[in-house]
Amino acid sequence: MVPLELGSWDQFGVYLIGAGWLELAIGSLSLYTEECIHFSPIHIDKNTVRKIAIAGNWKMHKTQAEALEFLKVFLPQLQETPEDRDVILCAPFTTLAALSKNLHGSRVQVGAQNIHWEESGAYTGEVSGPMLVETGVRYVVVGHSERRQYFGETDETVNQRLQAAQAHGLIPILCVGESKQQRDADETETVILQQLDKGLIGIDQTHLIIAYEPIWAIGTGETCDSSEANRVISLIRRQLTNPDVTIQYGGSVKPDNIDEIMAQPEIDGALVGGASLAGEDFARLVNYSTASK
Ligand code: 13P
Repeated sequence: MVPLELGSWDQFGVYLIGAGWLELAIGSLSLYTEECIHFSPIHIDKNTVRKIAIAGNWKMHKTQAEALEFLKVFLPQLQETPEDRDVILCAPFTTLAALSKNLHGSRVQVGAQNIHWEESGAYTGEVSGPMLVETGVRYVVVGHSERRQYFGETDETVNQRLQAAQAHGLIPILCVGESKQQRDADETETVILQQLDKGLIGIDQTHLIIAYEPIWAIGTGETCDSSEANRVISLIRRQLTNPDVTIQYGGSVKPDNIDEIMAQPEIDGALVGGASLAGEDFARLVNYSTASK
């Protein structure tokens, strides 16, 4: 190391720092940088910080018998699935009990597709938290665009359902996303921020999954470009008080695009409709592989 010596003024009136001090300064800077790499809260390696969750959303598909047929194909293909991935099947109410029974002891968890905010009452056609818990459900999809679009779900009712889910120890999967018309009108960010603002009032962000599902990509075969999905998801993450929330992408996820989607640094999983219906396909999604993860 160069001996420490004071600097001196040159002929232009600039103070030249002594070589030893400069070396010391560079040394501390690199030490500081190293510290940052090790201890920075920026999550470079998502496997060690944020949970990965691959969830199937069966929507209104499968009888009990069909669900059990699915498991016969699907379960044997999970032997090599990395431990750090949560695997979830969100099924119609009528198959939940049979799924829970047949998945007992497996690594697959059961999810529902809706929950009412009251525990019981005159709400024909609805299902409550205690009913779901009794059937072995651990997760519940809330605010899916199909419910917002066809069944009058609003950000306010979404919030009530989220609160009910957490009150009963369930992990809600909150769906947000813009329509084609909203995207074309440059309203993507505004729409999603509003869904988050209103939806997340009073919600514990440590027991929550968010799914970014652009409506125009659902069931259309038109996937959102993975880098664009990554951009929107990073925007969502910046709105959260807990940066470690698992944020999934959903919309035409298939065996041939899952690896690319999961390679994106902000994307922590997938919420899958059509491709979760065949055991073979869903196993391929759950067993995705990327070089960077
Ligand atoms: P698809 O995977 O069929 O596009 O559906 C996505 C979805 O809505 C999952 O909730």
